[in-house]
Amino acid sequence: MKTILVTGAAGGIGSRLRKLLKGIYPNIRWSDIRKPADLAADETFIAADLSQMAQVEKIVAGVDGVVHLGGHSTEGPWDAILQANIIGCYNMFEAAYRANVKRVVFASSNHAVGFYPRSQKIGVDLRVRPDSRYGVSKAFGEALGALYAYKHGMSVTCLRIGNFGDAPIDQRRLAIWLKPEDLVQLIRIGLEHPDITFQTFYGASNNEAAWWDNSNARRFGYKPQGKAEDYRAQAMAAQAKLPPDPVGDRFQGGTYCSDEYDADKRGGN
Ligand SMILES: NC(=O)c1ccc[n+]([C@@H]2O[C@H](COP(=O)([O-])OP(=O)(O)OC[C@H]3O[C@@H](n4cnc5c(N)ncnc54)[C@H](O)[C@@H]3O)[C@@H](O)[C@H]2O)c1
Repeated sequence: MKTILVTGAAGGIGSRLRKLLKGIYPNIRWSDIRKPADLAADETFIAADLSQMAQVEKIVAGVDGVVHLGGHSTEGPWDAILQANIIGCYNMFEAAYRANVKRVVFASSNHAVGFYPRSQKIGVDLRVRPDSRYGVSKAFGEALGALYAYKHGMSVTCLRIGNFGDAPIDQRRLAIWLKPEDLVQLIRIGLEHPDITFQTFYGASNNEAAWWDNSNARRFGYKPQGKAEDYRAQAMAAQAKLPPDPVGDRFQGGTYCSDEYDADKRGGN
């Protein structure tokens, strides 16, 4: 990969990757709807709104691979999700295809499968079970990825990211934590592994309490270094300060499941 595009450059993950990917790929083009406040003089940045096809066509021109992080990264009103994650994600895959981009790594989310119970260990081959409009948009992005991979020969890797950060911050994060350097490994597999048509990996570190079977990622060489258990005491201390959440504590998606939840009042589960 000579030239890669990373969207979402001004966000939490993008800002960290701007340091971690330096020197790994010779030309990295960073993009976001807003310019990162701490953009360095040697970083290439092009502003673009993902919901505008003409702007997306400009940022994908001439790149070999895309790491697609940009979008609405939490639950939100339908129109915000629609513009940034549904239309935006379509624009990115379609523009990349037209520009003959070979590879896309898509930042999906655990919220695409958030309504699986914590008592069930899941792999990547089950049906999606989104816990929010946001989760639906990630499932949509994964489906788009499959379309462009199987119909148009693009190599697509979907990363169902758990929670990216320096340490797991509560009990749920002990199961889903992703150390920044481990995300770099997953991105590199997606951009460089010769045998990828369409793959889904969990974006999680080496967490003993994991709800996910990430053997598919390991099959492609993923060797996560982060161990959530090293932070158990501090995560559980933080958990003790949180109010109980009878629905969120039952399902993998946590508060994304309990927010707006009324299945019990309507005769559901
Ligand atoms: N942080 C996590 O733990 C986590 C977990 C699961 C999935 N993800 C996914 O990873 C990606 C990055 O996450 P993050 O935590 O850095 O999120 P973030 O919100 O910090 O960054 C997202 C970036 O996308 C940009 N953006 C939003 N709408 C846009 C548009 N219309 N056009 C162009 N850019 C737009 C924002 O300006 C922002 O800088 C997101 O897609 C998110 O859904 C993150």
